[in-house]
Amino acid sequence: MDGSFYITTPIYYVNDVPHIGHAYTTCAADVLARFHRMRGERVLFSTGTDEHGQKIARAAQDAGLTPQELVDRVVLRFQDLWKRMHISHDVFIRTTDPEHERTVQSFFLLLKEKGYIYKGEYEGWYCVPCETFWTEAQLEGRLVCPDCGRPLERLREESYFFALSKFTEPLLRYLDEHPDFVMPESRFNEIYSFVKGGLKDQSISRLGVRWGIPVPGDPNHTIYVWFDALINYLTVVGFGRDRELFETFWPSAHHLVGKDILRFHAVLWPSMLLAAGLPLPRRVFAHGWWTVEGEKMSKSKGNVVDPLEVIARFGVDRFRYFLMREVSFGLDGDFSERAFVERSNADLSDNFGNLIHRTLNMVWKYRNGRVARPSQYEDREWEELLQEVRERFFTFMDRFAFSQALGEIWRLVHFGNRYLDQKAPWRMAKDPDLGEELDRVLYRLLDCGRILGVLLFPFMPETATRLLQYLGVEEILRDRNPLALCDWGKGPSVFSVAQPEPLFPRLQG
Ligand code: MSP
Repeated sequence: MDGSFYITTPIYYVNDVPHIGHAYTTCAADVLARFHRMRGERVLFSTGTDEHGQKIARAAQDAGLTPQELVDRVVLRFQDLWKRMHISHDVFIRTTDPEHERTVQSFFLLLKEKGYIYKGEYEGWYCVPCETFWTEAQLEGRLVCPDCGRPLERLREESYFFALSKFTEPLLRYLDEHPDFVMPESRFNEIYSFVKGGLKDQSISRLGVRWGIPVPGDPNHTIYVWFDALINYLTVVGFGRDRELFETFWPSAHHLVGKDILRFHAVLWPSMLLAAGLPLPRRVFAHGWWTVEGEKMSKSKGNVVDPLEVIARFGVDRFRYFLMREVSFGLDGDFSERAFVERSNADLSDNFGNLIHRTLNMVWKYRNGRVARPSQYEDREWEELLQEVRERFFTFMDRFAFSQALGEIWRLVHFGNRYLDQKAPWRMAKDPDLGEELDRVLYRLLDCGRILGVLLFPFMPETATRLLQYLGVEEILRDRNPLALCDWGKGPSVFSVAQPEPLFPRLQG
């Protein structure tokens, strides 16, 4: 493991307000950022907004605003949502930041000097909602966007091109040598065969689209919005501006993206970097899409899930938990109120919440809120279980398998509940000879709560903090490496606990 971890989300278009898809990627990135910070690594977590291009310009026109007015308005919705979701990003980048505009222009010039950018004429089709160029051959006779199904616009204009075709071989070689560059594996294979089919040069400027970054020295052209947007990942790490920052975090980049924008990130982006002579990011991970009650989410259907509404009704941690637990990261999933309530009640209220509540209540009932660490407190079963859970948890987290990582944490929860039932402290409490044994059982359960608090912190920071506060051990979160303290014997000499309120009262379905 090296000591730096740079994690990014896509930068989101501000033509419309955030929905569950945006919340999903950002939540996953937040979980990773928190997890790596808890391992004592230097973390840089960036998110932001993609504010240029024809799509934004048109949305502004429809709203009777200037593009700048529109983006300044909508960006607040994203920033507000991240606050409410307890997103811990270090940087929020906007492509209209002057610093970014300078980085894009200097990157453009760099590639031009190296001979990878030339002027020509683009003739073909363009999808404005996807901001994507399509050639005749890719369309197979149909004049709708192969990605989103919407009508295309015919373009014939002078354009700058990036010599993407030169990178077919270098990229294939890179993929051969780095089978983890694109994840999950099925997406790697998809990208591999796409590249193998041969890459074509890519148009990277638009004429007559005023809302964008001008091509240096030729201001009638603006830089293609995807070329502009991808470079945000370099602006954030101070490319061409802050050498120390750059060397700390590049190339430790991990890009989280939805499956629909994988090609831009796994084909165009690495080729741009190769052209610039820069090392490639560590990983591009493509996640799946959410449907809603079995249907594709769309404005016209009126079924777009507003994250703020979900949070207002159910609380932020239930939402974060559901997003990370319900679907294997990489696969598609379905969001429905029924699944949400069921998942929440079963996992959070009946299992997790109940274990914590029962434990704390018994500590009050039988020990007046205090349990000292017993001299002998070994237990083979607990020790073996924790060791296995921890190892598997780390492996899953390294593979961004959040649902499976949570599944491991829940093995501790289930074991704790079973242990409580079997040991039946309420019976021990009646027998004075079993006093020491009762201390052992309660201490073990409290220490399990402490470990759960730490492991759950990346996923549910608010709940985990509350839990650690109830247990009187919240200072563990200030440690440089709290994850290293997830072991038996690392608990306090005395647990002095608070009177608990239920963490997750059951929801009515
Ligand atoms: N601006 C570009 C990204 C540039 S990154 C250099 C963009 N923006 S977007 O706002 O349209 O989409 C951002 C992300 O939202 C994409 O990763 C996309 O996959 C994701 N989602 C949009 N709808 C989604 C679902 N229904 N479910 C899950 N994610 C979805 O593309």
